[in-house]
Parts: sequence; C-alpha cells; structure tokens
Amino acid sequence: MEIKISSLDNIHKAARQFIAAMEDNTVFAFYGKMGAGKTTFIKAVCEELGVTDVINSPTFAIVNEYRSDTTGELIYHFDFYRIKKLDEVYDMGYEDYFYSGALCFIEWPELIEELLPGDAVTVRIEEQPDGSRTITTETDDEA
Ligand SMILES: Nc1ncnc2c1ncn2[C@@H]1O[C@H](COP(=O)(O)OP(=O)(O)OP(=O)(O)O)[C@@H](O)[C@H]1O
Ligand SMILES: [Mg+2]
Repeated sequence: MEIKISSLDNIHKAARQFIAAMEDNTVFAFYGKMGAGKTTFIKAVCEELGVTDVINSPTFAIVNEYRSDTTGELIYHFDFYRIKKLDEVYDMGYEDYFYSGALCFIEWPELIEELLPGDAVTVRIEEQPDGSRTITTETDDEA
C-alpha cells in the first residue's frame, strides 16, 4: 500500500493510516535514504500508538524501548546505521526482540538484512522533489 505525507502537518494522519494497515505484523523494516524521514515517521506512529515518552533519534543506542500508555505494550525502535559487524547485533540479543511479538521498527535494516525475520514488512520512505514523502509497504505474501 502507499501513503502520502504532503507535509509534516499531516504526518499523524499518515501514521494512523499506517497503523490501520499493520494487521498482526510486528517487525517493520524502514528503508530510505539518510534524511528521508524514517525517525520522524516512526516517532509519529509511536505517538499514535500511545507512547508519550520523548522519542529521539536512537543514535546513542542500537535499540530504544518505548511503552504505550494506552495499551501498556512495549515498542522497540532500532537504528543499525552504526553497526560495523553483525557480531554487535548478535551480542545485543536481537532475536529476543525480533521474535518477542512486540512491535519492532527498524531503521537501516539493509545492514542486518540476513537477520531479518522472513515475515518482516518492508517499508520504503522516499522524499519527493516537492519535499513530500511517499511511504510504501510490502509484506512477504504480496511480494
Ligand atoms: N514527512 C516529512 N515532511 C517534511 N519533512 C520531513 C518529513 N519527515 C522528516 N522530515 C524532515 O527531514 C529531516 C530528516 O528526518 P529524519 O531524521 O526522520 O530522517 P531519517 O530517515 O531518520 O534519517 P537518518 O537516516 O539519518 O536516520 C528532519 O529535519 C525532518 O524534520
Ligand atoms: Mg533516523
């Protein structure tokens, strides 16, 4: 499916559309160039899911953990940009997160591609020449 974000003013509406289409998928791999808007969109989705903690780009950690105040559920936000070796990902116990059943939103999944669960949803974020963003999602069964 495709979601258009014409400007930051309607990112929350886009986040709600995204959530409505999540179904029972839990692992979402966000592909997009640097500055495409991965962190910004994940933050909006988390806010719509009831997270009220301050959400910053998780540059200081591979994984940030949030809790939804509405459902009490945990959400994991990963940024693998700084990963140098897959060993770092094994050492952090990635399987405990990816296979926990909790929502996992992943930035820079291309750096850990071989560790992504087979049922991870591919999400692509693209900045258009007019500054708007296009989000497309693809589950394995659509591919
Ligand atoms: N939908 C949007 N509309 C307009 N501007 C946006 C949108 N999404 C993000 N931006 C702006 O683009 C910049 C980069 O956004 P963001 O940090 O979310 O990108 P990113 O894909 O996470 O980048 P990185 O790969 O460095 O982690 C920010 O200044 C942000 O405000
Ligand atoms: Mg980011």
